[in-house]
Amino acid sequence: MNDTTKSLPGGKYVLVEFEDGIAWVMFNRPEKRNAMSPALNDEMRQVLAALETDERCRCLVLTGVGESFSAGMDLKEYFRDIEHLPRPELLQIRRAAYQWQWRHLQHFYRPTVAMVNGWCFGGAFTPLVSCDLSIAAEDAVFGLSEINWGIIPAGNVTRAVAAKMRQSDALYYIMTGQTFDGRKAAQMGLVNEAVPRDRLRDRVRELARDLMSKNPTMLHAAKEAYRAAVTMDWDTAEDYINAKVEQAHFADREHGMQQGIHQFLDEKSFKPGLGTYRRDSDA
Ligand code: COA
Repeated sequence: MNDTTKSLPGGKYVLVEFEDGIAWVMFNRPEKRNAMSPALNDEMRQVLAALETDERCRCLVLTGVGESFSAGMDLKEYFRDIEHLPRPELLQIRRAAYQWQWRHLQHFYRPTVAMVNGWCFGGAFTPLVSCDLSIAAEDAVFGLSEINWGIIPAGNVTRAVAAKMRQSDALYYIMTGQTFDGRKAAQMGLVNEAVPRDRLRDRVRELARDLMSKNPTMLHAAKEAYRAAVTMDWDTAEDYINAKVEQAHFADREHGMQQGIHQFLDEKSFKPGLGTYRRDSDA
């Protein structure tokens, strides 16, 4: 339910709605197909910072108002209008985009889900890939359109694509600029699932509820460990993950491991293979 006693972050180019622990975070420039302008990026940076410490946000869903997820970077306000600015100002504007689109989003304390409700182009691939999980409408339209207007997928879009798509698919779409739909995105592993449009919100809600039922400290540690280990050799990864386990146990105020083992071995009240242990709090 909405908590009306606290103010909502965002409100202009980014809208936030709370619903039973889910923070629906929406790009809100539908008349510009939710293209990301410098002002939107600044607002999104502030929204993420506010939500990370807001108890109303136990799972963040990123989506768009209207018929778009996001049509990528704003070709006017993020490119043409700022190209003559002094270099330090230009760098600051770019940094604001990177800071939320991948640096913060990838490490966000709560689980994050991208709900791709429509157009998803270019720069929008970075936050899409940086969310932990993603579900698209089957008829959502994706495209790495940069080659069509004379640049290459920048702002880490190329890196994001390389993280999720195999080389043959990535280079095909990078070099042709052709579009593909949500079904194809799921088939290629760019998103987790594609569902009919009329089921999209319910399916995302269902996934968010499942994520919110887990131990939040371990959920965060698990994604951090994955993101770090994926670039490491096996020896380094094993050492890092073991250290992460100890650090996460130290940080886990609800002592999930002890509770889970107690409920399985002593109480015989749950089976770890079939669900989440009974949690008394959301520490
Ligand atoms: N940057 C700036 N403005 C954009 C934009 C973008 N990335 N995408 C859409 N818009 C603006 C259009 O200029 C138009 O503005 P106007 O009403 O002032 O003329 C408005 O949004 C509606 O766009 P329109 O093209 O008329 O909508 P559509 O529904 O027919 O087509 C798209 C939607 C997404 C297919 C089309 O807008 C498009 O190709 N956008 C660019 C996508 C892209 O290459 N993004 C990569 C950027 S990194």
